[in-house]
Amino acid sequence: MTGKRKVFFGIAAVFLLLQFLQPTRNNGGDPRHIKFLHTFPVPENVGKILSNSCFDCHSNYTKYPWYTMIQPFGRWMGSHIAEGKSELNFDEFDSYSNRRKMSKLKSISSSIEDRSMPLPSYTMIHQSTKLSAKEQKIITDWASAVLDSLEKKDNR
Ligand code: HEC
Repeated sequence: MTGKRKVFFGIAAVFLLLQFLQPTRNNGGDPRHIKFLHTFPVPENVGKILSNSCFDCHSNYTKYPWYTMIQPFGRWMGSHIAEGKSELNFDEFDSYSNRRKMSKLKSISSSIEDRSMPLPSYTMIHQSTKLSAKEQKIITDWASAVLDSLEKKDNR
């Protein structure tokens, strides 16, 4: 074999081997079961936007795009999910302390306003998860209303 061929087959072999190492998945399933949507005042339009644009990385339910069956894309997605969930998991939002809830609501608004969320590397591939200006406002208005109500509770 020539050197170039060796490199090619080497890369192909690594790629094939990677396919056998599928990362564990974030169950898939039905995001309508997310507790947060039922225990918190979440209007339907807010719930829809969150589940379309945020739940893939911030809940226990991910709608996996087909290409995540192929490695290393699945791993890449998996690491976003693990990191995203550790920062904010809507499935566990209920159990956060009041202080944590408030700080997360603030960072929801700020991350949407500065467009760091949903992750730009994700919206690039998933145009449908991008938020329009109107959708951004729906979420930030909602987040500040919930924040207000929590602050009142806190001061009582
Ligand atoms: C493709 C995965 C992905 C999507 C989709 C996504 N996020 Fe994130 N999110 C992450 C990752 C990874 C982090 C942690 C690293 C960082 O902050 O960049 C994060 C961090 C955050 C944080 C920071 C938490 C903190 O306490 O500072 C907030 C808030 C957040 N995301 C909100 C959202 C909202 C709201 C949406 C939907 C509009 C969304 N994210 C969509 C992956 C994602």
